[in-house]
Amino acid sequence: MSHISKSRLTQKQLDAHWMAYTGNRQFKQDPRLIESAAGHYYTDTDGRKIFDGLSGLWTCGLGHNVQQINEAITKQVNTLDYSPAFQFGHEKSFLLAEKITEFMPQELNRIFFTGSGSESVDTALKVARAYWRKKGKGTKTKFIGRAKGYHGAGISGFSVGGIPANRTLYGQGLDSYHLPHTQAPGSEFSKGMSYIGSERAEALLDLITMHDASNIAAVIVEPMSGSAGVIVPPKGYLDRLREICDQHDILLIFDEVITAFGRMGARTGSEAFGVTPDIITMAKQVTNGIVPMGAVAFKQEIYDTFMETGGAEHMLELPHGYTYSAHPLACAAGLASLNLIQTEQLAERVKEMSGNWEYAVHSLRDADPMVTDIRNYGFAAGITIASLDGDASKRPFQIAMSMWDKGFYVRYGGDTIQLAPPFTVEQSEIDSLINALAETFKEVS
Ligand SMILES: Cc1ncc(COP(=O)(O)O)c(C=O)c1O
Repeated sequence: MSHISKSRLTQKQLDAHWMAYTGNRQFKQDPRLIESAAGHYYTDTDGRKIFDGLSGLWTCGLGHNVQQINEAITKQVNTLDYSPAFQFGHEKSFLLAEKITEFMPQELNRIFFTGSGSESVDTALKVARAYWRKKGKGTKTKFIGRAKGYHGAGISGFSVGGIPANRTLYGQGLDSYHLPHTQAPGSEFSKGMSYIGSERAEALLDLITMHDASNIAAVIVEPMSGSAGVIVPPKGYLDRLREICDQHDILLIFDEVITAFGRMGARTGSEAFGVTPDIITMAKQVTNGIVPMGAVAFKQEIYDTFMETGGAEHMLELPHGYTYSAHPLACAAGLASLNLIQTEQLAERVKEMSGNWEYAVHSLRDADPMVTDIRNYGFAAGITIASLDGDASKRPFQIAMSMWDKGFYVRYGGDTIQLAPPFTVEQSEIDSLINALAETFKEVS
């Protein structure tokens, strides 16, 4: 199906925008343009209703056009539209920081605001290095990420990230090394956490032997890898990373840009998987994706270290921050969004319905032999599709396009299809999504 005829845009206008993480040439021949959104659905410029099978970009768990959030932003923009982020404050950032601590593990009670997930990762990594310097251990500068990890598009994020396509063009990054990913042979079609693969945490010991703990600032992992196609930690894996980091004085960072605020059926991935890191990065769901915002939660001891060594009182303890840190509109959206997650008990709803979700997505195992793995946790699922003509991403692309034509938005990335329905999804919507996928797999096969 071609959509360009209904688009009001000229080719010149289409060409002017170099789109993010998009096949620009293909898109501009066949634009998929969204005009409006409400609840669990988009409407495109052809007037078609499209189910949001990824909650935006893992952002809009509360759905779209949420009245309470819209009202909070409207009130805020009419009261205080911008407030300088440095040396002056506004009340809502403090209220939001406190609200975020209600979601974080108890010990992570100091919140730094950023404008995105990438900036949150940058902040976490910079603070990790600075923390060790403050502790008199300035040689601890290297980072350890993980294969298939995604930590944003910044220079630091691509360095610790482990998705090859995101790295190969960009040359030298930060001094970083990578753990193996945890998609171990035999773990295919595991429901939730697998019993296979936790031994891959031991590779951290090899990296420590190679580089020495005295040179390593932090390990950063997504508790559940989202962008690589929902790679769920095997049982015991994160616990073992925690143990090794403790033994070797290495900070453990969980990148929870996708997993924080309900998607795992818990307040955080840390809570869902029962392991507490030293630092948590977050973004996306904090404002329901409506105003860009990220944040980083630190253990109080890290914050205190900076306060205690900050010099004269008028001095900056951490020379770091962004023009849009704690933007008033983002804070208003964040407060409304997180209040709704609490009052509507949406993390609890995700947990309760996650069994139905698991059952539904795993029913696709028999839809077609090209489905080689299915993984799930909370309201997230990743489906691995066998490559076609040696091209891993060809079929996932075809599947996502065919789903769009059928009225379903799903994400394709590498060799996977990724699903993350809104926290308020109905069973009938899950059923329609899964039926459409089963049909599409057969068509594309
Ligand atoms: C785990 C993780 N970290 C960082 C990021 C980067 O966030 P942003 O795109 O807001 O910079 C993402 C985005 O998908 C993510 O999934």
